[in-house]
Amino acid sequence: MEKDWYKKMAFYQIWIRSFYDGNGDGIGDLYGVYEKLPYIKSLGVDGIWFSPLYPSPNADYGYDISDYKNIHPDYGDLEQFQKVLDEAHSLGLKVIMDLVVNHTSDEHPWFLESKKSRDNPYSDYYIWRDGKNGKLPNNWDSLFEGKAWEYCPERDQYYLHIFAKKQPDLNMDNPKVREEVKSIMRFWLDRGVDGFREDVITFISKADNLPDGPPFIPAANGLPFYKDGPHIHEYLAEFRKVCEEYDCFQLGEGPMTSTRSALSYLTGKHKSLDLMFHFDHMFADCIFTEYMQRPFHLRSLKHAFSKWQKALNGRAWNTLYLENHDHPRVISRYGNERYHRASGSMLAVCYLFQQGTPFVYQGQEIGMTNIKLASIDQYVDVSSHNNYHTFHLKDSVEKRMERIHASSRDSARTPMQWDDSKNAGFTTGKPWFYINPNYRKINVAAEEEQPFSILKLYRRCLRYRKNSDVALWGDYKEYDRLSNQLYVYKRTYQQKSLLIVCSFSTHSLKWHNIKEFRGRKGKLVICNYPNPVHGMLKPYEARVYEYKE
Ligand code: NOJ
Repeated sequence: MEKDWYKKMAFYQIWIRSFYDGNGDGIGDLYGVYEKLPYIKSLGVDGIWFSPLYPSPNADYGYDISDYKNIHPDYGDLEQFQKVLDEAHSLGLKVIMDLVVNHTSDEHPWFLESKKSRDNPYSDYYIWRDGKNGKLPNNWDSLFEGKAWEYCPERDQYYLHIFAKKQPDLNMDNPKVREEVKSIMRFWLDRGVDGFREDVITFISKADNLPDGPPFIPAANGLPFYKDGPHIHEYLAEFRKVCEEYDCFQLGEGPMTSTRSALSYLTGKHKSLDLMFHFDHMFADCIFTEYMQRPFHLRSLKHAFSKWQKALNGRAWNTLYLENHDHPRVISRYGNERYHRASGSMLAVCYLFQQGTPFVYQGQEIGMTNIKLASIDQYVDVSSHNNYHTFHLKDSVEKRMERIHASSRDSARTPMQWDDSKNAGFTTGKPWFYINPNYRKINVAAEEEQPFSILKLYRRCLRYRKNSDVALWGDYKEYDRLSNQLYVYKRTYQQKSLLIVCSFSTHSLKWHNIKEFRGRKGKLVICNYPNPVHGMLKPYEARVYEYKE
């Protein structure tokens, strides 16, 4: 396999439950994925990242796993998985799986055994502690549900759950648990998968003695003691060895990771990951989580982009993404639903020309937007419920629902809109979740029809990137840093440059190029409007020019 193959690739992320239902039961599945592989290929991506496909009680929609070596019956079986994998490979698409090993489901057989007593073969698979003077073992909050400890009468002890109660944290300090992780990796690698996206992998090593965290930080007060913990590099080195046997690649999710900490995973003698997902550019309209909103601020978005482009250049490799299953739809936050086509396509340009491996999340390529359900009871995401019932409790119900509309992960999890027929063409059965009523306008079939659609622009950008050394390897430089309306950057590689100009304005703007290119003839290679006007940018216009240096 070619080394560093992932640098030239782009990935499509599938959150299967809402992708495409192939057997009419209202739930997306691997039969549906199989049918849509040609569509995925047509986008110009080179790989698929599957969010968890494994058996799960779905307390956190697949991120609470009850059997790591099987497929959830809602989605098919191992045989169907193999069919999808082989067909993807024959189309030239790589496939990476989600590896969720910070925690399991509380319905996983390991946990069911572990909770029975303090001395059974699984008793040390999880993080169990006695209470302290009648109180919890420490002051940590869970990120998803109340405190991070849950009492278990059978053991008269508490177990740690950084996420929901039904997601007990594994005890990675136990060598047997690490062996289990390696065995899970081998199980999927033996079937032919090409790598893993590793869920909250920076959280798997907890500080000794689990000290209290700073009391003034809500929800994440234990973070300093479970992020980048004392044995993280040792444990990841063990997992890395397995991957080396297969030449697969590893992408770690690093919530709240800084460039410095990312580089400790991506470079040097501890190099344990090929890529990382950071979250910095997800905070341009919020503080810490999307539920804590603030007005969108282009300068903070640009600052986050540029910080990572500069810090990793020549040392490591970036991932590029604007959406995934954990964040609301990007048009509804950084773009503008009233300028749906223009802002959706501009956002594509603004990130796909940076240096790194791009990820496109299902529905992003057709500009799907946030759903607005009337009541919190209609939402199914555990963290949306937690936010609603924990924060800003003095706000009116209406205000809190506005926050939910703008922030819920469910907005990114509504069924994919394939066409304007019943149920958006997603299923012939009863869809498992609400379909965004805008599906009559926003759907794949409609996007295929329009010449300047968001979908077509994604295809053009991805095709261009794959065939351009400058887009793939070029250095990055930002211009007009202080502008609140324009994002302008240049990529340069071996005497060639690309200039990327993106307007985030709802008005037309005068624009006369950056100084070094003024008066020089560049070639306009991508624009999201049919007839670009010299000296002016239309609302949410995006352009890419080629220059010779
Ligand atoms: C990150 C995953 O992307 C998210 O969906 C999940 O809820 C948490 N990790 C916990 O597994």
